[in-house]
Amino acid sequence: MEANEPTKAETRTPPSKREQLSLFARNFFKHPKMLGSIIPSSPFLVKRMLGRIDWERARVLVEYGPGTGTFTQEILRQMHPEAVLIVLETNEDFVNYLKRAYPDPRLQIIHGSAEDVQAILAQREIDEADYVIAGIPFSTLPDTIKGNILRATQRAIAPQGAFLLYQFSPNILPHLNQTFSNVKRTFEPLNFLPAHFYYCVP
Ligand SMILES: C[S@@+](CC[C@H](N)C(=O)[O-])C[C@H]1O[C@@H](n2cnc3c(N)ncnc32)[C@H](O)[C@@H]1O
Repeated sequence: MEANEPTKAETRTPPSKREQLSLFARNFFKHPKMLGSIIPSSPFLVKRMLGRIDWERARVLVEYGPGTGTFTQEILRQMHPEAVLIVLETNEDFVNYLKRAYPDPRLQIIHGSAEDVQAILAQREIDEADYVIAGIPFSTLPDTIKGNILRATQRAIAPQGAFLLYQFSPNILPHLNQTFSNVKRTFEPLNFLPAHFYYCVP
């Protein structure tokens, strides 16, 4: 199911912060390699990354690995009323949570992998994304999947757009340099764990 309509079993009551943190931590213990962190990103990291987006221009935004929606809720708050946000998440618990927490008609929640971004955009007759925002833990992914995601992302982004990525280690940098024409790196210390932020132009 792809639409963000809640099922009968779900409720419209917005989840509490405590529920969000507890769901995130429980899933970290179930899938440590897929999450990479025991708590969601800090507001400092969210602000640093989203501060690079031209909100007036952006009409198609894609997020990989929204988790419990730390970036998602801030993107929805700042994005244009006519823009669309497509989030791709492999963890079904998070998908169900997001559907309940963010009932916004501009948001499309997909239970799927970043590897399939091009097919997912094509199914929606979308040619390209203005921005892709991601925090998936590349360091724990096999090289083939890493390469597939980066190439698919580079092809999915408009020439004026960008790929915004945070990672806890700098290991991804050579792969980004191989795939994107320009990569700029900054650092956000106020996060658990301190994060490298990469701004990549296709
Ligand atoms: C560190 S958490 C980030 C959560 C949230 N974006 C944040 O910054 O707080 C990484 C997320 O990426 C998801 N993920 C891992 N591999 C993925 C993939 N190939 N495609 C989409 N999501 C993926 C995980 O399930 C998890 O929700």
